[in-house]
This record gives sequence, C-alpha cells and structure tokens, in this order.
Amino acid sequence: MRKLFTKCLDFEKPWDIDVYISKQGGYRSPKKSLSMEPSAIIDEVKKSNLRGRGGAGFPTGLKWSFLPKDSEAPKYLVINADEGEPGTFKDRLILEFDPHRLLEGCITACYTLGAHVCYIYIRGELRQCHARVEEAIAQARSRGFLGEGIFGTKYDLEIYVHTGAGAYICGEETALLESLEGKAGKPRMKPPFPAVVGLFGCPTIINNVETIACIPTIINDGGEAFAADGCERNGGIKLYGISGHSARPGMYEAPQGISMRELIYGDDFGRGIREGRELKGVIPGGSSCPCILPADIDVAMDFDSLRKVNSLFGTGGLILMDDQTCMVRVAATLATFYHIESCGQCTPCREGTGWLKRVLDNIEAGTGTPKDLALLKDVCDNIAGNTICPHGDAASMAVGSYLRHFMPEFEAHVERGGCWFPEW
Ligand SMILES: Cc1cc2nc3c(=O)[nH]c(=O)nc-3n(C[C@H](O)[C@H](O)[C@H](O)COP(=O)(O)O)c2cc1C
Repeated sequence: MRKLFTKCLDFEKPWDIDVYISKQGGYRSPKKSLSMEPSAIIDEVKKSNLRGRGGAGFPTGLKWSFLPKDSEAPKYLVINADEGEPGTFKDRLILEFDPHRLLEGCITACYTLGAHVCYIYIRGELRQCHARVEEAIAQARSRGFLGEGIFGTKYDLEIYVHTGAGAYICGEETALLESLEGKAGKPRMKPPFPAVVGLFGCPTIINNVETIACIPTIINDGGEAFAADGCERNGGIKLYGISGHSARPGMYEAPQGISMRELIYGDDFGRGIREGRELKGVIPGGSSCPCILPADIDVAMDFDSLRKVNSLFGTGGLILMDDQTCMVRVAATLATFYHIESCGQCTPCREGTGWLKRVLDNIEAGTGTPKDLALLKDVCDNIAGNTICPHGDAASMAVGSYLRHFMPEFEAHVERGGCWFPEW
C-alpha cells in the first residue's frame, strides 16, 4: 500500500531538509504549482476529493474557492495544529517527523490563495513539534523556499509559528483566530465565515495540518490519482490513530474507506482487542464522535458512511473500549472534559456540560436516581443546536450516544447503587 505520512519513519532524521529532498523527493511540487494558474490548482484539489482532515470533512478545493477574488485586503492561510481532541494524535507525527511536507503544502496553498503570510498555530504542549517546525522554516528559508522571491519567482512568502496555551477550544477555527489576534479564544458567530472576514478582519482559510500535507502529493501526482487512493467522494490516504484497549495501539496509514473492522483487527493494524477481552464500543474519530457498537464495525471509514451508523468520521482517531469498560464512567469522563474546556460564552454549553458531569458523577458514585436518566437526555437535547460553536453539540452527541446504546447499564448503576466495573 502507498504510504504518504509514515514513509518518513523509514529514514534517519526525516525532519531534515536534505533527507526530505533526497529520500522523499521533497519540494518538487512548488516548482510545478508556482507556474500554474491558481484556478487550475483549485480544480486539481477539487478533483482529488480531499476533505478536511480536522474533523468536519469539508471539501478543501471548495473551501479555497470561497476566498473573495476581488478583495484588496491581505489574505491569510492559517494552519490548525492545535490537535487537542482526545483520541487524536496524528498531526503531531507530521509536525515532528515530516514538517517539510507541511511547509511544502503551505507554499502551494498560499500561492493559490494569494496569501503572502501563513501562520501555523501549534498546540503549546507539543514542544518538540514546535522546535521541529521552527527548524524546518529556517532550513526552507536558507534554501530560498521561503522569504522574498521564493524558488526564483517574484512571489514572497513568510510562515510564522504561534503556540497555543492549552485550551481545546482554540482548535475551533474562529476561537483560534481570536487567540492568534491576542484575545481570549472564544468562537465567533458565523456568518461571516473566515474566508470572507477572518484573521485581522481579512479573508482567511484555515486548514488542518494533515489536509495541507496532502497538497504536495496532489500537485505531483494529479488530483485524480490522489482520489483513486481513497473511496467515492473521500479521496486519498489517511492517518488513523488506534488507542484504548487495542492489542496494538498506534498510528497507521490506510485509504479513506477502509473498513473499521480491518483497522481494529487487521494484522497490519490494531490486531484486535487486548487478550481475553471483547470489544464493547468504538469512538470512531476523536471523543466528539458518537460511540458505535461492535455490530456496526463493518462500516467504511469515510465521512459519508459513518453518518449512516449515527456517528461521525471526525479525525480518524479510533478509541476502542473492551467489556471491562464502564460506559457511565466514560460518559462522565467526557462530560468532565467538555465542561472544563467550555469557553463559557454560551449558557447551554457552560451550564449544561457541568450539569451533565454532576449527574453522571452521581450515577457512577451510586447516588443517582431514576429521574436523573431522563434529566440527562433532556440536558443533552437543550445543549444541542443552541450554541455558537459545535463544542456543546459534541458534548451532547457524545454523552447521548452512551445513553442510547447502554441505557440498561445506566439503569443498573442506579438500581445497584453504584459501579461494579474494575478501576481504570
Ligand atoms: C471544539 C473544536 C475543536 C477543534 N479542534 C481542532 C483541532 O485541534 N485541529 C483541527 O484541525 N481542527 C479542529 N477543529 C475543526 C476546526 O474548527 C476546522 O474545521 C478545521 O481546522 C478546518 O480544517 P480542515 O478543513 O482542513 O479540516 C475543532 C473544532 C471544534 C468545534
């Protein structure tokens, strides 16, 4: 199988520019793209069926085409490297081991968008990633790949790194822009969308690290070849994280559309559940995605198929839970996370996530009542769709999925007066 992102791990010091150029054929794509018409590049990206790898799966070529062409204002590309979603640890692989692939993608993206400045917003805790990206920028500048007149053309481009301060909400694109502007990371109302009014009030495209790291391959091989590696409407190869009770947790690369069963049980991937245990539930793509049952794991890993089993593809970071997992505790843990990470701007999210946490903690501790079960559903319903950003929706959908699939387990906690599962 073709490898894009994990190939770098075959080489020593893959983050070095010389290794990237000599072993991976790096920096070929700008030599081609910088002589292309931006509209032709957008067409190629559309043909690739590349969908945003930050979780929402918005088609990248279409997003780029939303940038107003007649605006005189500066335009920006912002790379979302905040990666804070529990269960998601893919972008750090690119940032740490293959940073030049990201920079190479940024060059083509910025040129296409008419941007001369790009910001990479990196989660603050990822210190090694930050160091590697800064080093990569310095190396690229020393070769004339960044700065004034890059690759001998008349096009200027600067890339700056900005580190976050540990708030999950700053991964939400408009909160990220606020944070980048030096303000508290609170999501903005949309519309206007960032493509029209974004960073410093100017047209801005925000893309995930993995999304932009696909661009060199699309330019080198053509959009159709990239699309052919994936499945219908979901192009290319993807990084999948497997964590939780897997026999072989880790980071794997596979096409969009591979079956979830293959990722969980395949010899090349997770090789099943830890010894002597059975699968009880799967979070398909980071904590915000509703949990699915073992009966549904023949689903194809793409943005459209996961919806058909009432979940979401998200980031492709699978969390496996075996039969020793208490689903009340999982729901309580997730509610705690979403409560702590709520920016507090919208009442349903600020109050509702805290309410969910308290009620779930009570049920787990054995002080829950039968009325609490209906209350949980009611609180979930009152958060969903009533907030500025999808943070509240994520909390509601995630907790709601455990209520939907495992209600007898919640009821038994109330009846028995607490939890009988082993400690984590
Ligand atoms: C609470 C929240 C956290 C998010 N965190 C991230 C993140 O860490 N990285 C990311 O790329 N997208 C994250 N997103 C999605 C971004 O808002 C946005 O959709 C994405 O960066 C767009 O890039 P893409 O089109 O390349 O996927 C988050 C969204 C929400 C609601």
